[in-house]
Amino acid sequence: MLKQQAVLHDSFGRRHDYIRISVTDKCNLRCVYCMPEEGLPFFPDERVLSCAEIIQMVKNFARMGIKKVRLTGGEPLMRSDIIEIIKGISAITEIDDISMTTNGLALPKMAKRLYQAGLNRLNISLDTFDKKRYKEITRGGNLDRLLKGIDTASQLPFKKIKINTVIINGQNDHEIADFLKYTFDHDVNLRFIEFMPIQQDERWKKQYRGLDAIFNACQTNHWIYEPIRLDGNGPSENYKIGGAKGSFGLIHPISCNFCESCNRLRITADGYIKSCLYWDDEENIRAAIFDFDSFREKIQHALAIKPKNHEMALLNQEQVKNKKPTWRHMSQIGG
Ligand code: 5AD
Ligand code: SF4
Repeated sequence: MLKQQAVLHDSFGRRHDYIRISVTDKCNLRCVYCMPEEGLPFFPDERVLSCAEIIQMVKNFARMGIKKVRLTGGEPLMRSDIIEIIKGISAITEIDDISMTTNGLALPKMAKRLYQAGLNRLNISLDTFDKKRYKEITRGGNLDRLLKGIDTASQLPFKKIKINTVIINGQNDHEIADFLKYTFDHDVNLRFIEFMPIQQDERWKKQYRGLDAIFNACQTNHWIYEPIRLDGNGPSENYKIGGAKGSFGLIHPISCNFCESCNRLRITADGYIKSCLYWDDEENIRAAIFDFDSFREKIQHALAIKPKNHEMALLNQEQVKNKKPTWRHMSQIGG
């Protein structure tokens, strides 16, 4: 058993017990909200943390009070050693929750092995029920495969599956009622997410849509909903429509800043710690992974400079004095 250290806090008193590790910047899709149309050059293999480095890093974090780990990408299932990574993390006693954010396309083949390796939870992206539109939004994805992936995962004893739905003005916002209906007969927590301007060009302002449309859809359809509490649900506020098996949540980083309750640190695939997904501040922690004291120092420094909030509501036009938004695209951070 690793010796437990004090729990991590930042300078605003926010408690941090959750890390998100991007295990690869590679992806088999190029979703409009995440990557540019022409794609991105992927990091060369040697720039990406190895399985042994990732496992040692989580051991270090476990000694510092971290209990929850989320694996993100790019697409984490693009990594051929993902099962080994999960097994290694799951063997760390202090870690009581391992989750993954995935586009779901590899789940028909992989879901069972992920569960057996020790993965507890999945967040799966689903942005439309229309095959043609899915291909457009993801720039090439196959909706049938994704739905099969969700179905395969649903039949395994994972904790409640979360569905990530980014609302894109003019592309999928007319499907809001269909997403809500999906929760009637699927025991999932479907989270509507505002489109965030991380490395987006001017078009972003036209693609953004706030989330009041969700409640409007409930009212139009006379669906009665009530707030519910879900364990460990981070920044989303959650509701359930009367009689539905599943629930829905709203994540609105733009219209209603969620920073106050931020409990997460992000590690990029190339070994940098980002205490806020929005800003440019990041520090390379790779060299310190096998030297706990210097690792701890770097993490404490990242926490000490963690900003109070992002400034996405400035619509990416104005930059706050002395601070720059990150150079990374979402796929290089892990959402
Ligand atoms: N805005 C909101 N969510 C995003 N994601 C990626 N890029 C964005 C963005 N610009 C989230 C989506 C996706 C997950 C991998 O990251 O929810 O499902
Ligand atoms: Fe890939 Fe996920 Fe980004 Fe889509 S959102 S391009 S599936 S990393």
